[in-house]
Amino acid sequence: MDITKAIIPAAGLGTRFLPYTKAIPKEMLPLLDKPAIQHIVEEGLSSDIKQFLMITGRSKEAIANHFDIAPELEHFLQERNKSHFIAGIDRIIRQAEFAYIRQAEPLGLGHAIWLARHHIGKEYFGIFLPDDIIVGKQPGLAQLMRVARQEKASVIAVQEVPLECASSYGMVAIKKQITPNLFQVSHLVEKPERKDAPSNLAIIGRYVLSHKIFQALDETGTHAGGELQLTDGITQMMKLNEKVFAYKVQGTRYDIGTPIGWLKATMGLALQHPEYTSHMRKYIDEFHTMQSGLYDSSKNILHDI
Ligand code: UTP
Repeated sequence: MDITKAIIPAAGLGTRFLPYTKAIPKEMLPLLDKPAIQHIVEEGLSSDIKQFLMITGRSKEAIANHFDIAPELEHFLQERNKSHFIAGIDRIIRQAEFAYIRQAEPLGLGHAIWLARHHIGKEYFGIFLPDDIIVGKQPGLAQLMRVARQEKASVIAVQEVPLECASSYGMVAIKKQITPNLFQVSHLVEKPERKDAPSNLAIIGRYVLSHKIFQALDETGTHAGGELQLTDGITQMMKLNEKVFAYKVQGTRYDIGTPIGWLKATMGLALQHPEYTSHMRKYIDEFHTMQSGLYDSSKNILHDI
């Protein structure tokens, strides 16, 4: 099973991160020295994905600019022997192919994926939701690709969550447990109330899907509010005789779609990065011992004017 293409839907409005996301795509939030979307593409390349199809919208031009050459900047850095600053992104631009489709209206994740139907042949393909950053020994998508090849079927990444959080996720109903980390799926439920959650397995932002999803999305009705849900499309795809498995991806997952999730990701990555870890540990220790980083009104110095 050849899996060489991936869709990155990035046309959402990012309401949980307003006002930052009013004019700047949240996919360009920095995680240390790289925008979040670069971490996603690096995970894709490490999983042997060669073609990335981004679904974008208004105010998202910065994403395409990041994955394009910048001759003036390159020339400027070359003259000063500083080309190493952009060596990583240059390598990505040479290794990967990028294509872009604009989603004129945010009609849902299912609609964003459906827009890519003419770019994917009769093959399995990956999906990365760029809010989810997965850090681990093996790239997140590569783990799903291994299962997809083994089962010759579609696979979605899941994570155990407390049931009170079920209403924030698509949740998986299990048909059969295959191994401690692998389940065959019977259907999916989008953002259920705690009492209606079919399990504690929540869908997170990586998928390997059959091209049958496009026919299934064609057949799936939109929800109230006019959004086409990917979870409904996947449930419909199972009616077209496509088996779907859920795999508990190994690694740490950060949801950078909110300020607190982004802060946790930034700190988590800094603590693991050889260049930053000692600075971060020292800073965190200072917080414990001297509370030095915290605002304390009693320490204010009043200046007479
Ligand atoms: P979310 O449901 O998290 O929406 O989309 P969002 O706009 O990104 O963020 P909030 O919830 O308003 O803060 C999940 C993924 O689907 C993409 C988003 O860009 C995100 O990667 N998406 C969503 C689209 O591409 N188009 C849509 O119409 C909806």
